[in-house]
Amino acid sequence: MQPFVFPRWSNKLVRLTGAVLSAAPLYVIGLVWYGASAKTLDVGYAPTQPVPYSHALHAGELGIDCRYCHSTVENAAQAAIPSTETCMNCHQRIHTRSPKLEPIRASAASGLPVQWTKVHDLPDYAYFNHSMHVDNGVGCTSCHGRIDKMEVVYQHEPLSMSWCLDCHRAPEQHLRPVDQVTNMGYGLAEGQTQLAAGLELRRQHQINPPTDCSTCHR
Ligand code: HEC
Ligand code: HEC
Ligand code: HEC
Ligand code: HEC
Ligand code: HEC
Repeated sequence: MQPFVFPRWSNKLVRLTGAVLSAAPLYVIGLVWYGASAKTLDVGYAPTQPVPYSHALHAGELGIDCRYCHSTVENAAQAAIPSTETCMNCHQRIHTRSPKLEPIRASAASGLPVQWTKVHDLPDYAYFNHSMHVDNGVGCTSCHGRIDKMEVVYQHEPLSMSWCLDCHRAPEQHLRPVDQVTNMGYGLAEGQTQLAAGLELRRQHQINPPTDCSTCHR
């Protein structure tokens, strides 16, 4: 029997492992840098979606309310992305042969959901809740911009911690009547200022967004 010997190339392997290990700190730095920049701070991030769905057409021109599709936004932490059935409510009759809608028809036939790419994505250690904002009169536009004018959704705000805190310290700059939260063209009445109207709403509804760490890091 031959005595077991390591083949010559295993020396190379040892050297390679060494190189990988010494690169590990770089990898960690890269990860932190990525976490801080790529997804969360990327104002303007607009991934290509599997279907060229347009908010400018549906929410803008056709005037469909946000809650028709994002139905959980007032009751839950997450604003649900609509299911294929929601699209098919209209598209089993409208544009039934459009190639742009082929992935929707395929999804309806197979029962497999469409793989939409997330646009906004906070790191897991930060807690966010839609209903607590929307039900207190913070409109979608304060955090997402004029979605009704976007052909492709993009991230409008930095979603950084200081951005959250700026509003938590002075929410009156953003408050509106609760029945106006999905109104993209919301404007003040003649002679009103946001500061006066916001302070009045803040007092009426006793709105005091907390700023202690455990609010968002639980
Ligand atoms: C007819 C259905 C429909 C309506 C109405 C609608 N949306 Fe959407 N929305 C979608 C779909 C589908 C996506 C996922 C694809 C995409 O990002 O474009 C989406 C994505 C989004 C996103 C990005 C989600 C992410 O991945 O981070 C935001 C923000 C958003 N919608 C806000 C709104 C607002 C605000 C309104 C009302 C002005 C609205 N939507 C109306 C269907 C709809
Ligand atoms: C309330 C009805 C309604 C719902 C719900 C709806 N759409 Fe539409 N959609 C329309 C109408 C109407 C048009 C056509 C507008 C036109 O041609 O002037 C359209 C057009 C489109 C087009 C362009 C088709 C082409 O060939 O030009 C796409 C893509 C599309 N919708 C995707 C979606 C997706 C994805 C969903 C679900 C998230 C959805 N729609 C939900 C009514 C709806
Ligand atoms: C106070 C800021 C704020 C307001 C107001 C707000 N959003 Fe968001 N939205 C966010 C943040 C932050 C995220 C990313 C959440 C995450 O990654 O956990 C998000 C994510 C989303 C998503 C993706 C699904 C999800 O929940 O992660 C949709 C869809 C959405 N918002 C729709 C809406 C609509 C529609 C409105 C108005 C009715 C609205 N948002 C109001 C901040 C806001
Ligand atoms: C445009 C203003 C605005 C922005 C931006 C904003 N918030 Fe808020 N937030 C509010 C208001 C208003 C409330 C409701 C306060 C109340 O109920 O008194 C609130 C409440 C909350 C609550 C619930 C607090 C509780 O009562 O337990 C959490 C959690 C929260 N915000 C997290 C975030 C995070 C995370 C971000 C950033 C990603 C953010 N918020 C950005 C205005 C804002
Ligand atoms: C209103 C919500 C909110 C409050 C209150 C809050 N944070 Fe944050 N924090 C966030 C969000 C959102 C992020 C993620 C930001 C990003 O993606 O860059 C974050 C990120 C962080 C990070 C990661 C590093 C960084 O700066 O990106 C640390 C550390 C941190 N917070 C500590 C704290 C401490 C300590 C407190 C209390 C003094 C606190 N936070 C209060 C929302 C909040």
